[in-house]
Amino acid sequence: MALVSWLEWIVLSFVIAASFLFFYIFIFPKWRSRHIPGPKPSLLLGNALELSNQGGAAPMVFERYRKQYGDVFQFWSFYRQIVVISHPDDIKYIIVTKNFPKAEEFNLSLSPLAGRGLLTVRKQHHQQRRRAISKQFNEDFLRQLHRHMKVELKILLAKLQKASEKREPVDFDKDATSYTLDVMCRTGFGRSADTQKDTNHPIPKAVNIALKEMYHNVAAYPIRNFFGLYTSPRLKEATRVVKEFASQVIEARKVESEQDRERRPMDLLDIFLKVEDLPDWDIIAEIATFLIAGHDTTSHTMSWLIYEVCQHPEIEEKIQQEVDKIWGDRQDWMLRFEEISQLEYLNMVWKETLRKHPVAATGTFRRLDSDVTLPSCGMFLPKNTAVLVPIYLVHRNPEFWPDPEAFIPERFSRENTIKRHPFAFQAFSSGPRNCIGQFFATHEALTTLASLYHFFHFSLACNAEDVRPYHAITMKPVARNVPDQVKSVLNSPKLPIWVTPRNSIPSVVEE
Ligand code: HEM
Repeated sequence: MALVSWLEWIVLSFVIAASFLFFYIFIFPKWRSRHIPGPKPSLLLGNALELSNQGGAAPMVFERYRKQYGDVFQFWSFYRQIVVISHPDDIKYIIVTKNFPKAEEFNLSLSPLAGRGLLTVRKQHHQQRRRAISKQFNEDFLRQLHRHMKVELKILLAKLQKASEKREPVDFDKDATSYTLDVMCRTGFGRSADTQKDTNHPIPKAVNIALKEMYHNVAAYPIRNFFGLYTSPRLKEATRVVKEFASQVIEARKVESEQDRERRPMDLLDIFLKVEDLPDWDIIAEIATFLIAGHDTTSHTMSWLIYEVCQHPEIEEKIQQEVDKIWGDRQDWMLRFEEISQLEYLNMVWKETLRKHPVAATGTFRRLDSDVTLPSCGMFLPKNTAVLVPIYLVHRNPEFWPDPEAFIPERFSRENTIKRHPFAFQAFSSGPRNCIGQFFATHEALTTLASLYHFFHFSLACNAEDVRPYHAITMKPVARNVPDQVKSVLNSPKLPIWVTPRNSIPSVVEE
């Protein structure tokens, strides 16, 4: 009889193969990267447990790690290594000089909704798509935005006025998010989603669920990837709602008469429909991409600005003075297009908000397609390393931002900006994959905020310390604890605010 039976051979081979695989996946990469500082990973889970326990606070955990381990550190999500960088020299090298591609974790995790839209399209197809869409992001497009905003801003102002008359708080973040969503749809795709008018509209809820689920996809990538679980039933339903809206927008455009087409200016949808060989599902992906990238980023930043200014009456006073001076005694809902560039102080407050509360807090996620040596510290990173640039960390580096927790708009005066490292401010990222909508967002926010501070005074309807950042792709303010008086009017408000009138809103304005 054979000393070792065939069954024993099979078991033995299986054990040897499994041990080799275990060593290759869980032990060797950690041993090879032992020169990179970072929190101690457990063998199987890595640091996933600590990060998942923090529910929506990953950027703050990274901040703790940076204080402990320095500008470059690593953490492990199960067997996946992620190296975090936040020094401006390294950022410039990785995302501008080398322009490494986005990590597939990021692209796949967002793909159920964003498909192969501009945000997630692979590097080899990006340049051509970006060039085509960039053509639309010119001054004419900003002027169109300005015109379209007037319709939606009137609705927002009326809503705030009503609340102030009834002496009721508003959930500013919710109202601002519906507003920016409607502005994006009207300006980009020729039709408002009307979410300001219909408070139970399915799209804001669907976008919210989608962002949360896609964030879980990124955070739990190795597990979701292993089981192919990118599309949970919740994400599937949310995606269906958004894509249905996108299909309706496309259908409406396809049956538009030639005369109607000639009567209106070109918009984003016209561009998507013109890009050569772009199939319908890619057009839907672009609409979904601009819908998710182009509205709650701006609204959450406006919310953070209101939150900060509520705690700094001297800043509010300066904003009001600047806006009122430009406004004069004109009867209108908003400033004129040319006047927005005169809002120098408000622009500094806007930038300081983007610095302290960068809405795209975890920033950009890249994969090295060659070995690199980081310029800031000479550390070697091998090809295929996944590198994360969390903007939240970049903007809290005391070497470039002294007293980073303080809210100081003057950091962005011309003299101070010139003195700083050009890559220390990353709110819109940098290089070929930076934010295509940064001027759109800035124009929209400054125009809106100028009207808000002209017509109203705002104060927080909860303790400032009870408002915390919650991160799910975008980082928004969330009030953890609100007074009963607020609870009786608003159901789980994100940012409860009292609104007091300053100037009366005209009922009709000249066009
Ligand atoms: C305060 C507002 C905004 C902030 C802070 C912001 C921030 C960013 C950041 C950091 C990125 C880089 C993401 C990455 O590397 O993965 C990005 C990309 C992008 N943003 Fe924005 N964004 C804002 C508003 C907008 C608006 C209004 C639009 C559309 C009108 C928009 C459309 C996009 C698109 C399409 C990309 C992908 C660009 C590419 O890869 O070529 N964003 N944004």
